[in-house]
Amino acid sequence: MAEMIQLGRTDLNVSRICFGCWQMSANRFWPTVDEQKMQAAVREALELGVNFFDTADAYGDGHAEMLLGRMLEGVPRDRYILADKVYHHWLGEPGSKRVGDLSCDYILWECEQSLKRLNTDVIDLYQAHFYDVLTHPEETARAFEKLKKDGKIRYYGASNYNAEHMRAANRFGHFDTLQPRYNLLDRAFEEELAYYCMAENIGVLCYSTLECGLLTGKFTGDEKFDDVRGIMASFQGEQFQKNVQRVQRLGEIAESLGKSTTQLAIRGALEHPAVHCTIVGIKTPEQIREAAGAMGWALTREQYYDVRAAMA
Ligand SMILES: NC(=O)c1ccc[n+]([C@@H]2O[C@H](COP(=O)([O-])OP(=O)(O)OC[C@H]3O[C@@H](n4cnc5c(N)ncnc54)[C@H](OP(=O)(O)O)[C@@H]3O)[C@@H](O)[C@H]2O)c1
Repeated sequence: MAEMIQLGRTDLNVSRICFGCWQMSANRFWPTVDEQKMQAAVREALELGVNFFDTADAYGDGHAEMLLGRMLEGVPRDRYILADKVYHHWLGEPGSKRVGDLSCDYILWECEQSLKRLNTDVIDLYQAHFYDVLTHPEETARAFEKLKKDGKIRYYGASNYNAEHMRAANRFGHFDTLQPRYNLLDRAFEEELAYYCMAENIGVLCYSTLECGLLTGKFTGDEKFDDVRGIMASFQGEQFQKNVQRVQRLGEIAESLGKSTTQLAIRGALEHPAVHCTIVGIKTPEQIREAAGAMGWALTREQYYDVRAAMA
């Protein structure tokens, strides 16, 4: 049985591992997607009790939403919780040039498109993907409140907001969750945002838990990538080598605990008291099985600080 948690001040009872769906659509970030394996991974997740799925209209220009909707067809709606995002406004057809947009009219319109693509009546958690400097936070909050009142979404939150964005947003609305980037190699979230989230009981679902696979321990530092990793700083030159060494130290601790490096990397993020869930990008049933093995156990205080020291 999966480890479950109430997501902050919402009444969403979610698994602590959230199935990340950015990988679900072939594009320049993830050029190869095996839809059959992905479908099997979604089914495996549900079997394992992983009930939380994170997607976005921007993933594959709407394609990832459509695929997820299709893959969940026939599954009773109360067996899974959908988190979706809005922000990128295509100027033409999906796939054309896009600009940031959290204006009221755009959010209301785009939510309807996402509901259709996801093949559902309601999005459980609708998130502003990024902060839109051109829209007053009162206007954005007005749109989300209307969607909530109309029963199109159950809760709303934000992603990639800093603490000032969250404060401004919550002066006008009820942004109940935050989706920040956070993992053992990138702890910027701990500096300020984590305190805001704990003080306000904001549900935190963090992304890039495995630093796009680096924290699984499967890389040697010599690899070249044709996907998003080809443009990420953590996979370049000396930085890549240093990260591989850190992950090797993590692997030694994992071995002593009888866990895999991947599981320890996920658990290390889950142990932070501000974090409710970790989103893990999944491509295969094996990957979700391994990620699910990060639930249901805990690090001792000593082990936790050993992990932090190993990553320094
Ligand atoms: N809000 C935002 O702005 C934002 C940004 C990024 C991501 N996200 C969300 O967070 C999710 C996860 O973050 P992420 O995409 O950065 O990736 P991640 O979770 O840090 O890493 C996922 C990658 O690790 C590899 N992997 C996963 N499990 C593995 C296992 N057991 N063994 C070996 N390799 C494994 C897979 O890549 P390979 O198999 O190709 O090696 C996978 O693509 C996304 O799907 C998305 O839902 C949100």
